[in-house]
Amino acid sequence: MRYSFKLTLILVLSAVCVTGVPVELESGTTVNVNGNFSIPVTHNASAANHNGPQAFHNAIKKWGIAKNLPSGDYLKGGLVLDNVVSKRLFNLVQDTSVTATPGSRDVQYTIPVNIGIPAQALKINVDTGSADFWVFSSSQPTSQTTSHTTFNPKKSLVYSNLTGYSWSIQYADGSGASGEVGVDTVEVGKATVLRQAVELAKTVSSGFISGGNDGIMGLAFGKLNSVSPRQVRTFFENVMYSLSNKLFTAYLRHSAQGSYDFGYIDSKKYNGTIKYTPLANANGFWEFTSNYYKVGETNYTHPEASTAVADTGTSLLLVSSDAAKNYYATVPGAQANSQVGGYILPCTSRSLPTFSFNVGPNIASIGGQNIIYGTTLGKLNGVSYCFGAIQPISGNQFIFGDIFFKQNFAVFDYGNARFGFAPHDY
Ligand SMILES: *[C@@H]1O[C@H](CO)[C@@H](O)[C@H](O)[C@H]1NC(C)=O
Ligand SMILES: *[C@@H]1O[C@H](CO)[C@@H](O)[C@H](O)[C@H]1NC(C)=O
Ligand SMILES: *[C@@H]1O[C@H](CO)[C@@H](O)[C@H](O)[C@H]1NC(C)=O
Ligand SMILES: *[C@@H]1O[C@H](CO)[C@@H](O)[C@H](O)[C@H]1NC(C)=O
Ligand SMILES: *[C@@H]1O[C@H](CO)[C@@H](O)[C@H](O)[C@H]1NC(C)=O
Repeated sequence: MRYSFKLTLILVLSAVCVTGVPVELESGTTVNVNGNFSIPVTHNASAANHNGPQAFHNAIKKWGIAKNLPSGDYLKGGLVLDNVVSKRLFNLVQDTSVTATPGSRDVQYTIPVNIGIPAQALKINVDTGSADFWVFSSSQPTSQTTSHTTFNPKKSLVYSNLTGYSWSIQYADGSGASGEVGVDTVEVGKATVLRQAVELAKTVSSGFISGGNDGIMGLAFGKLNSVSPRQVRTFFENVMYSLSNKLFTAYLRHSAQGSYDFGYIDSKKYNGTIKYTPLANANGFWEFTSNYYKVGETNYTHPEASTAVADTGTSLLLVSSDAAKNYYATVPGAQANSQVGGYILPCTSRSLPTFSFNVGPNIASIGGQNIIYGTTLGKLNGVSYCFGAIQPISGNQFIFGDIFFKQNFAVFDYGNARFGFAPHDY
């Protein structure tokens, strides 16, 4: 029944298609939504997936920023690396290889997404820090797709190629991902979008893909979309017209199922009240002012006006060099380490101070217990060391990744151009 209903719509839509309506002006038709829907988020918390050095590396490439670790005598070594860690670090350095290295995973939150008719089920990472919906595809060399489910457009009855269109995400070091673009039926929970633009990878470079997912669904603002000659709408920009409220929320939990909810705010998923801040998003990111921070009870102000971006596609909390330095100065034995390229701290550290920062007029906090990221990297003087969840970058635009979301329920309010959050249990 459902199947033939869709086929009827397809015939109608193909007719619309030949009129040559520009893709970015055409609202993907949405069915089944009725004001709201929810999709479960799975967190694969397997220890093998926590790779702090990789997470930091991926983030600085994605954001085109530099690490801002101290230099000279302040940058230390001497860590006796675990075998598996030294292999991963070697792979990190060899980042030019095109194969997504099995050892290179980082923690991933994924949602189930169906593409095409009949449906092809993929595990997709939702990324509020980009605006491209791209998937691993059958046109990639198999060496790039061994640990992924790929989308095969030939197996979908309704896939339609956008001739002349392409997408490309390129990083400063020459790595990236690119391919062709088509439109197809995309289902997320009970929401079905007909003629959603889907970007098919033809080639991807390794470190770019941290593994664990079959593609990325970018939910930043469409002005960041990479498709040319004309940009295409994000999945959210297609469904939002069918929602009671033009917003979605992120409820990401540690080692437990969470959800992305669309069109409504579920008050059972947070404590207290949601605190909002207007977006400073001329760039198209979920970005807001963040001028000061606290380490425990000590308040510090950034010397220059600063902003931060709420990015579910990044794992760590990327802050200024001063903020990282001030934080780790309170942790006995912590050091900036040249071998793994980031701050490390004893895995058994206890009573770590809370790190707080402002999100516009409000203060968000990361409990000290959440600053130890993943498992041991190796030993220093017989003590096991772990990667820190707070790491330093250059510039005045900081990045609040999953470390933030694991403790805070977040509201991405597109309709009112604001970002809100409230704490939940870790
Ligand atoms: C979600 O939509 C359904 C209709 O599909 C409606 O009955 C329900 O009240 C909505 N829930 C919220 C929280 O808006
Ligand atoms: C979680 O990750 C581990 C290691 O990468 C993998 O072996 C396992 O299959 C994953 N589990 C799920 C449910 O995806
Ligand atoms: C789809 O369109 C792209 C861009 O014009 C083109 O390079 C590609 O060959 C087309 N693919 C198919 C399967 O027709
Ligand atoms: C911290 O400093 C900022 C900026 O100077 C100020 O606005 C804020 O009220 C201070 N917060 C606390 C808790 O002292
Ligand atoms: C709210 O806070 C309580 C007490 O800290 C906690 O047990 C509960 O899980 C929290 N609720 C949510 C939805 O996070």
